[in-house]
Parts: sequence; structure tokens; C-alpha cells
Amino acid sequence: YQPPTPLVIKKKEEVVVDDGKKKVTVFYGTQTGTAEGFAKALAEEAKARYEKAVFNVVDMDDYAGDDDEYEEKFKKESIAFFFLATYGDGEPTDNAARFYKWFIEGKEARGEWLKMKYGVFGLGNKQYEHFNKIAKEVDDILADQGGKRLVPVGLGDDDQCMEDDFSAWKELVWPELDGLLLDEDDQTSATTPYTAAVLEYRVVFYDSTDAPVEDKSWSGANGHTVYDAQHPCRSNVAVRKELHTPLSDRSCTHLEFDIAGTGLSYETGDHVGVYSENVEEVVEEALQLLGLSPDTYFSVHTDKEDGTPLGGSSLPTPFPPCSLRTALTRYADLLNAPKKDEYAKWVVSEQRSLLEVMATFPSARPPLGVFFAGVAPRLQPRFYSISSSPRMAPSRIHVTCALVLEKTPGGRLHKGVCSTWMRNATPMEKSQDCSWAPIFVRQSNFRLPADTKVPIIMIGPGTGLAPFRGFLQERLALKESGAELGHSIFFFGCRNRKTDFIYEDELNSFVETGALSELNVAFSREGDTKEYVQHKMMQKASEIWDLISQGAYVYVCGDAKGMARDVHRTLHTIAIEQGSLDSSKAESLVKNLQMSGRYLRDVW
Ligand code: 2AM
Repeated sequence: YQPPTPLVIKKKEEVVVDDGKKKVTVFYGTQTGTAEGFAKALAEEAKARYEKAVFNVVDMDDYAGDDDEYEEKFKKESIAFFFLATYGDGEPTDNAARFYKWFIEGKEARGEWLKMKYGVFGLGNKQYEHFNKIAKEVDDILADQGGKRLVPVGLGDDDQCMEDDFSAWKELVWPELDGLLLDEDDQTSATTPYTAAVLEYRVVFYDSTDAPVEDKSWSGANGHTVYDAQHPCRSNVAVRKELHTPLSDRSCTHLEFDIAGTGLSYETGDHVGVYSENVEEVVEEALQLLGLSPDTYFSVHTDKEDGTPLGGSSLPTPFPPCSLRTALTRYADLLNAPKKDEYAKWVVSEQRSLLEVMATFPSARPPLGVFFAGVAPRLQPRFYSISSSPRMAPSRIHVTCALVLEKTPGGRLHKGVCSTWMRNATPMEKSQDCSWAPIFVRQSNFRLPADTKVPIIMIGPGTGLAPFRGFLQERLALKESGAELGHSIFFFGCRNRKTDFIYEDELNSFVETGALSELNVAFSREGDTKEYVQHKMMQKASEIWDLISQGAYVYVCGDAKGMARDVHRTLHTIAIEQGSLDSSKAESLVKNLQMSGRYLRDVW
């Protein structure tokens, strides 16, 4: 038996003193760790290439305590790279929000004040309307303010293959950095093709009789009072219910996480990040394919063979010693389609999972270290709009989650990891041995107006209903405590009253109690023609216009591609027709609503 060697995880890169070496700062704005991984990968590779330079990788938030410090330190940067993710409705990540606000707001006042040479790589998804908005904006403003752009802004697209986009962008970076960081006599050697050092995980096996060690980052006892993606909170599933009727051919789960006594708290409109488990059949299949015992007890180390820690690398965070079954269940994204290979089409368009690829090529049986380091990506949290209000459910986080079960063009079934887990979860009310998941709360800008008398218009078909259930619970609680409520309309849409009119009774009772003034439901598959929320909105156009004129807030939640875009156009049309505005005036009115925070969207 060999006791586990402590894992060396450096939280923040220490700032290296500049001893005459050229200094390069690599900033990252990350939500789930991908941008951070890329930032560190760039720095690692660059450190090996340019011995005479110093690379600091910094979290945007940790860089400066306040706006003045940003300004002061930014002025001194000579070479910088930015890895910036855009998510949701064109928003920066939490850790880049403060920087972004300072940078955008002060842009007019500052003029050409920067000396830095820079490159920006964005992380986004083409499926979203505001594809890589944050990276593009920062890239533009840096140039406007005197910065010298070394390479075109990289537009990483998660819908295709972000890693490939990153690799392609990196190839543009090296020749520029060669010019800046290499002495003349170094330059010739740098033209020889560079091979990245292969950083491998080392696997240490333990005596399997040992009880598995609980992952400390999952419990409140981990010394962290603040829970986040790196320090989620272990919470039990208290309630699970199917929301569709038996007549439906789809599924939507209502789930309640018990957060009593954990110190985890949330606000109405926030999101919850959930690390789910892979379902048992998938884990069994992976065990078969790896050909190892589920009890194989091991740990994965991110240190090199010679024992020196890697510091930062693009590899996923290691996990504590555990059995192979636990590792496959909790840490490996087994249903993720392998991204980088020559049969991209065969894999991508069919969404073939890692397991299916391994099953088709049985000779490709990677050793454990390689499997957990390079093959199976770390299982990432999934985000859901919380469907409860802490005023009604202080010790519960409610989630409303549609089962992802898609038929691919070739007729295969693609199952969502987390939605499948939720659908199969065992709640506390059914068994002592209930399901649980590490969770954390992500703040959102989706908030009710501070003044309860301000009218609100909510649009959320399908599971887009989620945050509005929270809003309505909140309003009911406010009303019960004596607050005066402004007018409220909710536009909900589903296929058919008999299959997927989720929370129907609750919605009706919100109307009865006065938490909701008006409920409009569009049924898309009841009559001969499709009726959608935007059609209902057009029927209520004059009322919507009146409410907006009175200062109403407009909230949209749900599918970004179809619904949210159509609703946006409908608002524009209502402004033209009801306000007798021309198209460009109507557009600036809608823009103004957005800018002043009165038109908020929680879309995916
Ligand atoms: P459909 O599936 O019949 O097309 C919740 O998913 C509801 O949103 C369903 O009734 C769905 O209708 C509807 N929906 C689909 N596309 C939409 C769009 N572009 N705008 C508004 N609602 C839409």
C-alpha cells in the first residue's frame, strides 16, 4: 500500500518578478474552466518556447481590486493575451464582468492610452445570437485605445470544435511572439517545427480494500463558505416528479435539491450548476470497454514522471483517489462526442459518443492515465434556471428540466447526461439512499424590478417557464407580506393541454391569488395551425404597448434560436404598429429597453 501523495493544485499563478525578462500576461474570463485551460495551455507551451520571457496567467477578477488598479496595471502591460468566453445573452463570465464593465464604460473617456501588443481568443457558440460578442468587443476597443493587435481575434465555436479553433489561432500567435521574444540568433532555431511536450497523467493504484475517499470539494466541510464551480455543494434530491402527462411522448422533470443547512443560498432568477452522474448502463459499458475491474482503486496525478508539478496545464483537474466505477460515474464525460479525429463527420453529425467510438474500434483501449487525461473530458456542470424562489423555498432549489433525447440524422438516439440523470434520480421521499449531486449557484441578471408596483411581461414557452415560476412564487410571497403588486402577464406555450401544460394547476392558482394578473397560453399542436407565444403577444399588442409605456419590464426565457428571436421581432413590430414608429425608431426603442435593463433575456 502506498499512501496517496498530496495533489499539487496551484489555485493562482504567483506573479513572477520581472528580472529583466520580457513579461507576458495571459488573462482569462472563464465559467466552466475551458478559457482557463486554454490560457494555461498557451502559457505552458510559450514557456517552453521562450526561455527568456515570463508568462503570468491571471484570472481577470484577481488581477485588480478596483477600477483604478485595472487602469494603472493595464498601462504597464506590454504583451497580453485574453481568453474570453461569451455566454447566454452575450454576457461576460462572472470573473470578467467587473473588468468588462470598467473597460466598456470608460472607453470614451480614455482615448489612446494603451501600449500593449495583444491577442484575443473568444470562446462561444455559433448557435447563439451574440456569437463571441465579448471577445470581439474587447478586441475592437483594445485596438481603438492604442493597443497593437498581433493576431486576428480567434472565434472559438463550441458548436464545432473549440480545440481546433484554438490550435489554429495559436499557430498565428507563434510567429508574432518569435518576433517579439526571441533574440536574432534564437530565431533560426525557432523555425524548426515545435512539438508540444506531452504532459501525461500518472496513475497510482491503491489497495482496493481501502474505503474510497470522499471528494472534499463536495462538502460544506471543505473550508469554503462560498460555493462555486470548483467547490460545489453536495446536495440531496428531495423531490422528483414527471411533469408531462402519460399521453406525452417526451419527458420533463421537476427536481428539488435539498440545501437545508449547507449555507448555499440563491436569489430568484439565478442559475444552478449541476454535476450529474453518468447512468449505470453507460458506466457498465465503459468498464467493459476498458477491460478493468470496477474496484480498481487508483488516483491520477498531474505531476510529471520526475515528480515536478506541472503547475498549469490544459489538462482537466484531477480528482481524489477513488474506484474506477466512481471515476467513470462522476468525473468522465462518457457521452461526449470525441472532437478531434479524422472521422469528424462520422462522429459529429451522428453525435457518436466516446463509448461508441471505443466499441467500434476495440483495439483502441487506452491506459487509464491517458483515458482520464486526454480521452474522456472532465464531466462539466450543466446550468439550469432555478424554478423556485427562496422566499417560498429557502431550503430547496427547484429545477425544471426537459429530457434531451434526440434522434440523429442516422436514426440513433442521443441522450443528455444530466437530464437523463435527473429523470432517473431517486428522491429522499422515496428512499433514504437517495440521489445527490454537487451543485452551485450562478448569479444571473434576471431579476424582478426592485419596485413591486412596476408591471412585468413574461414570455417563456416550454421549460422557459422555469424562472417565471420563481418570479411568481416571489410575487405571491411579497403579496402575502403586504406588498402592492403591479400588473403582470405571462405568455406560456406548449404543444397540447393534455400532454405538456406543465405546472397548470400552479399557474391557475397564481392567477387566483393575484400573484399573476393574466395567463396567456399558446397551444402549438392543438388546432390546425400552430399558435406560438408571439402570436398571443400580437393579440395583446395594445396592452403590451401600454404596459411598456408605463415602464414595464419585459422578460424572455427559453430557446434562443427560434423563440427568443421571433419574440424580439414581435416586440419590434408592436413598437412600430402601436407606437406609430418607423423601423429604426422602433429598433432604438427596443435597444433602449435592453440597455436600461428593462428587457432581460435568459436564453439558451
Ligand atoms: P412546436 O414544438 O409545436 O413547434 C415549447 O417548446 C413550445 O414552444 C412548443 O409548443 C413549441 O412548438 C413552441 N415553439 C417552437 N418554436 C417556436 C418559436 N420559434 N417561437 C415560439 N414558440 C415556439
